[in-house]
Amino acid sequence: MSAKAKRELLEMTGGFWRAIPVITAQRLGLFARIAKAPKTPAQLRRALAAEERALRRLLDALLGLGLIVWEDDHLALAPKFAPYLDPASPEALTGMLDHQWHLIHSWMRLERIVLDGAERVVDFEAMRADPERERAFNHAMRTRGRESAQELMRAFDFRKVRRVLDVGGGSGAIAAEVCRRHRRLEWTILDRPGALSLARRKLAADGLTDRIRCVRGDAVKDVWPEGHDAVLLSNLIHAYGEGDTDRILRRAAAALPRGGRLLLRDFISPREDVPTPFAGIFGINMLVNTERGRVYSLPELKRMVQAAGFRFERFVDDQSQTLIARRR
Ligand SMILES: C[S@@+](CC[C@H](N)C(=O)[O-])C[C@H]1O[C@@H](n2cnc3c(N)ncnc32)[C@H](O)[C@@H]1O
Repeated sequence: MSAKAKRELLEMTGGFWRAIPVITAQRLGLFARIAKAPKTPAQLRRALAAEERALRRLLDALLGLGLIVWEDDHLALAPKFAPYLDPASPEALTGMLDHQWHLIHSWMRLERIVLDGAERVVDFEAMRADPERERAFNHAMRTRGRESAQELMRAFDFRKVRRVLDVGGGSGAIAAEVCRRHRRLEWTILDRPGALSLARRKLAADGLTDRIRCVRGDAVKDVWPEGHDAVLLSNLIHAYGEGDTDRILRRAAAALPRGGRLLLRDFISPREDVPTPFAGIFGINMLVNTERGRVYSLPELKRMVQAAGFRFERFVDDQSQTLIARRR
């Protein structure tokens, strides 16, 4: 008997007890209300049109977790968490909490999906057509933008390239960070309209629209813009099965000159038989939210990039992982 293993298992299975109250509070707009000005429970109840006893239990949970605190008889965001829970803060994580709200619902379908297959259980068209869900996703994807860019710059020296095509570059958080550091770089983001409207707004606010171009398109179906010496695929291929990922890799090869760089950043497990803990769990997220998405292992990706026309160069194992290859 191992007390440690017992504790580990209980922690693994009990995480949702903390997650759901916090995500629900965000969903209700509770954090935004008290971020503007501390409120008494009665003021909050009126503002949220909530039921008194239930709201009190939710507030107790948030107080117990230390996310909110008493200031006399008013409730306020705990100073430690305020930069992340105030939606108006530049460091807000509230977009990610909104996204998690949608994920909880898809994760709850796992039992049915394992029995019947995602295609028969999930209405992917309806999911894609939900603008609130898409907005939450696009905002959530910005959350780690700065850290992702730092990781990427540790993995690859961007002084070696001049023009980067960032396929699925989203709202441009990575683009902005890398271009701020490397002033000679030109950058193109290829993404869908929803992500690009957020990108255009953020890039205009940062004064980066002259060096970062946004091109609307579908990476699997449309022609990719030409004239780049590096293609970045950051957290894109995990949304696709082998067939589409293969198509994306071949398009990357076709878009690059000989010697051009492929920078493939994703949750890549070094081993093929056992994924890393995060990659294994992330694979569930792709199962319940995409038609064929999955995580890939390094040996698989090496074979795939090789077959698409690249020569594998390096693998960098950081918070997430980056595979670097060159066009043959
Ligand atoms: C998980 S986000 C990653 C964003 C960013 N690259 C990063 O690493 O933070 C995936 C992005 O790929 C975009 N995307 C997914 N499939 C795409 C496709 N077929 N064509 C263009 N963009 C796509 C999504 O709209 C989203 O912005």
